[in-house]
Parts: sequence; structure tokens; C-alpha cells
Amino acid sequence: MEKMEKIVSLCKRRGFIYPGSEIYGGLANTFDLGPLGVELANNIKASWWKTFVQNRDDIYGLDGGILMSPKIWDASGHTKGFIDVLVDCKKCKKRFRQDHAKDKCPDCGGELTNPRKFNPMFKTFIGPVEQDSSIVYLRPETAQAIFVNFKNIIDSFHPKLPFGIAQIGKAFRNEITLGNFIFRKLEFEQMEIEYFIKQENWKKHFENWKKEMEKWFLGLGINKKNIRWRNHKKDELSHYSKKTEDIEYRFPFGFKELYGLAYRYDYDLKQHSNASGKELKYQEVDNNKFFPHVIEPSFGLERTILAVLNEAYHEDGKRIVLKLKPSLAPIKVAIFPLLSNKPELVKQARKVYDLLKTRFVCAWDSRGNIGKRYFAQDEAGTPFCLVFDFDSLKDKSVTIRHRDTMKQERIKIDELKEYLNKKLNE
Ligand code: GAP
Repeated sequence: MEKMEKIVSLCKRRGFIYPGSEIYGGLANTFDLGPLGVELANNIKASWWKTFVQNRDDIYGLDGGILMSPKIWDASGHTKGFIDVLVDCKKCKKRFRQDHAKDKCPDCGGELTNPRKFNPMFKTFIGPVEQDSSIVYLRPETAQAIFVNFKNIIDSFHPKLPFGIAQIGKAFRNEITLGNFIFRKLEFEQMEIEYFIKQENWKKHFENWKKEMEKWFLGLGINKKNIRWRNHKKDELSHYSKKTEDIEYRFPFGFKELYGLAYRYDYDLKQHSNASGKELKYQEVDNNKFFPHVIEPSFGLERTILAVLNEAYHEDGKRIVLKLKPSLAPIKVAIFPLLSNKPELVKQARKVYDLLKTRFVCAWDSRGNIGKRYFAQDEAGTPFCLVFDFDSLKDKSVTIRHRDTMKQERIKIDELKEYLNKKLNE
């Protein structure tokens, strides 16, 4: 089996990621996060928010709406400029984005139709009558909620330049290219920052954000040899960008875009100023007013999850283990009574579980033999398993087994919280 298939299968088996609408035959490019997937996603988002919002005093958090005035998408240029060009294969009838297909069908080599333009924004309607006046779009990027709140943040917090506004949230695109699991979805999550600067400093900030993006991503347990930067050619640039570089990650299907870093100059603030009639300039103390320029680091959550799972996936003989960084692991500690048919053992082990579960995400498992329980937790990426055995009744200790080394040690129940706290924050 290819590595990608193995990851997909593990994700389903252990409750990380399920295909969307599966019992109805599925809905292409949609997926649901299972219990472990939600925890992993939340841990990644929490790490991002802590690094880029809470640990800094120059970045403000925001959670804007998915539905916004359609005027926003006219002003931002998305209704006219956010365009995919499609081609169909005359032979096998498959459809591709032109930039993915070049001259011939990438699947069967067949001849392609003439290119057709298509806007990947999803439309829906506000109100009971489906008429043009009530069309709204599901946002294709979180960024615009930030630009339209620029003045609100200035009025509430009076930040000094440079400063940023950050948002994590869903974005939607009517993608036509299928496959590669959660790499390209119809509904996905972005973690974006619009960083407002003075024009003359854009190169410095651009380079600095390259470092910041890389540092956070590598800190998730990613090997540096699996990333590289790629500069967009002129004809690839989005309608709002003067310069874009992507971090590419070596996914099991090859190096592909992970995140984008764009220099949006003063495009968006100017467009929204003109369209709304509200002046979105920054005013300095000496009354000098100007449109700040913008550097935009944009991160995709699903691509992060896929990269993290790819790095963590290890096979060691028959053992499959997800060597996730403990801070990202969905379950931190699993607690097992040695045997499930000894009531006193189960009762006392349950007390250890109750002691720890309010502090750490814990799992309880009393089914089957211990080997199988370890196997399940290794696949879930759980860093620690605790076994409560007959000796535990006397010495008030449990055996702790480490996921990566499989080493075991004995530890007093009284000292467990402190021990785990330390280990999980390493
Ligand atoms: N605001 C800038 C922007 O939206 P983008 O390069 O179109 O730029 C940024 O998207 C990031 O969002 C990508 O680098 C990727 O991580 C993620 N992304 C974009 N489309 C996606 C999709 N269909 N499925 C999953 N992630 C996606």
C-alpha cells in the first residue's frame, strides 16, 4: 500500500477523518473530522493562535462572518478577478484546471477543449425568494473580514504600525480538481494574518514573515528537508498580489503548496475605501495619512493536518505508530486496568482515570488484551499509557509506557500529574 493510502486508512480506522456523507456514497472533496481529528485540529489552531496572537502584542484576533455583503467581493475583485480556467479532456471527459493540465490530459494524454472561465465562489441566497438582489457568497478567503474591520480595530485599540489582524475560520471554494484526500477541499479552514506596514519596509517584513511561518510549521515536528519556498511567476499571481511565495511541503504525492505569503500592497484597503466611501487610511500622530501596505501570511489547516500526520506516521515491524508531538496528540494519556474482570482493579484504575481526565485529555480502555490496547493507542499517537495492575493496589504506583521507545517505568499515582505535566510540555 502507498503511504497516502495507509494514512487515509488509519485516519478512518482510528477516528481522525471520515469521508463526507459516506453512507450516501460520499460527496467529493468533503470530509468530516472524527473525535481524534477534532482534537488534533484544535491543538494545531491553539498553537497557531498562541504563537501569532496571544504571544505577541502587535497582532489582534478577529472572527468575522462567513456571509458578508456581496459588495465586499465586488470591491475585493473576487467576483471578476478570482477565476479558474477549466479544460475538459475530449477523450476521457475529465475536467481540470488549465494550470494543472498544460497541453494534454494529465490522465490519458487526450486532447483538451478550449479553456473556459469559471468563478469558484459558492453562491447562496438571503431571504425566501431566489433573486439576484439577495445573492450572497460563502467567503473564499477569511482575509476580507479583516480588511473590512480595519477601521474598527484602529478605533478600538489605536495600534501603531506595523500591526496585524489574525483570523482562523472556514473558507469555501468550488474546486473541480479531485483527490489527494484533505489537500484540496470545498470547505476548508484558513489561518490568516493581514500585517499592516509602511510601504518602504515591505521587503524586510516579507523576509521576516518567511522566517516566522517556517519556524511555526517546523515546530509542529516537521523535518526541514521536507519544505522549500517557491516564488510565483508573474502570470500565476493572484489579482491582488505584487509578490507571492509559497512554502511547499513534500506530501506523499510530491512537493505541493502548503501555505502562501503575499505582498498585497495597498490593494484591498484602497478598493474598500473607494467602494464604501469610508476612508481606510492610517493616521500618524503628525496627521500624516496614508494607506498602509499589507503582507499576508496565509496558512491552511487541512494541509497542516496532512503534513503533521505524514511526518508522524511510522511503521516498526507490525507496529504502526503516530509519533506526534505530545502537545499535538489528540489523547495525552490512556489508562488501562490490567484485567477487566477484576472489579477492585477496575474500580481503582478508574479512580486514576478520574484524577487525570480533568487535567489531560484521557482515554479509558479495558477491552481485550493489553497488547491490543497499546496497538490502538500507538495508532492514535497517544504518548503515554498507564497500566494499573495487582501491585498497584499495594504500592500505589502504575506502570507508564512511553509510545516512541516502548520503555516502561513505575511511577507513584500521587506524582502522576506533575510528571505528565512536565513531559507533555517538553
Ligand atoms: N487570502 C489568501 C489566500 O486565500 P490562497 O493561496 O488561495 O491565498 C491560502 O490560500 C492557503 O489556504 C493555501 O496555501 C492552502 O493552505 C489553503 N487552501 C486554499 N485552497 C484550499 C482548498 N481548496 N482546500 C484546502 N486548503 C486550501
